Amino acid sequence: MKKLIDPMGRHINYLRVSLIKRCNLRCGYCYGPEMTHRESEDQLSLPDTLRLIKTFASLGITKVRFTGGEPLLRREIVDLVHQTSLLSGISMIGLTTNGLLLEPKLPSLINAGLNRLNISLDTLDRTVFRKVTGVNGFDRVYSAITTAEQSGAFDCIKINTVVMRNINDHEIHRFALWALERKIDLRLIEFMPTRGSGWGQDLFVSEDEIRNQIGLMLEPLPVNNNSPGPARTYTLPGAPGRISFISAISRNFCHKCNRLRLTSDGVLLGCLFLNKGIDLKPVLAGNRGNHEIARVIRHILTAPGLRRMPEETSILRANPFMRMVGG
Ligand code: GTP
Ligand code: 5AD
Repeated sequence: MKKLIDPMGRHINYLRVSLIKRCNLRCGYCYGPEMTHRESEDQLSLPDTLRLIKTFASLGITKVRFTGGEPLLRREIVDLVHQTSLLSGISMIGLTTNGLLLEPKLPSLINAGLNRLNISLDTLDRTVFRKVTGVNGFDRVYSAITTAEQSGAFDCIKINTVVMRNINDHEIHRFALWALERKIDLRLIEFMPTRGSGWGQDLFVSEDEIRNQIGLMLEPLPVNNNSPGPARTYTLPGAPGRISFISAISRNFCHKCNRLRLTSDGVLLGCLFLNKGIDLKPVLAGNRGNHEIARVIRHILTAPGLRRMPEETSILRANPFMRMVGG
């Protein structure tokens, strides 16, 4: 079996595929004020996207996560999940969605082979939801979460919550109890300084502070049950749910980075916080064989400046467009 291993010894087995730049929410920390509806969507076609995923699979990628923008705005999403599930080597197919369009699409996504589901939800309060996202959509997202839970198709649904001071930090304790009572993994995410996000020390809440606010005796999930990735997961004895922390600012996790990213317009990125990548469109258009695509993919692991080294300067120096990269 082939493996993608970078010069730091990091094993890459996870590909995040952003399917579309557009989103149907306007969360200030993500979408950014510089962006408009009218920008061009120079999207990779479905066959090209699948050709790339297939090549990644041949190199040892076992997990694919579809992101956006909002990936459910991409009309071919169910077909993409289905075709990906047929590719040899891919055993995990995930989706990171804001949940607004999820509920009616869930049965077909599950049938198509979706087996990992992460839903972004920053609050359990309708009014705060509207304030954060610009949309009156809390009930729709909440209902989708309940339906996804009841479907039994997912081991543990992950809820992504970006913690921001004076916006949702007062809710953390209640939010944690809510998740722990369910089969939900609540991921409390440190606000990251992405482009146009309005990030600042005034809004930033560190993991230490978040833990203080939760005030529960959480126990780390045994390492061998913990999937690799930025999240560190905890349990509360007797409770079905979990609490995770994703703390890019206070606890750098670059040393265990296991992922590459493909933007919706075909650029391969070696790091969320490096804006430079490799454009795969010319390789696709050139009608060259998959071995040439594989060569270019391998090149990102060694090319200078395309994958961040753990000892490099803080991510506060970079500022990706979250919506283009998909988180
Ligand atoms: P799993 O596949 O369930 O492990 O999901 P994930 O945590 O990799 O992905 P998800 O899309 O749910 O992202 C959760 C949060 O982690 C988001 O805020 C992402 O931006 C952040 N994140 C994911 N990967 C990275 C990374 O490589 N670097 C940084 N700094 N943040 C990341
Ligand atoms: N900091 C931390 N997380 C972010 N996300 C979007 N922007 C930021 C940011 N600036 C999260 C969203 C979504 C995931 C893809 O990335 O909440 O769950």
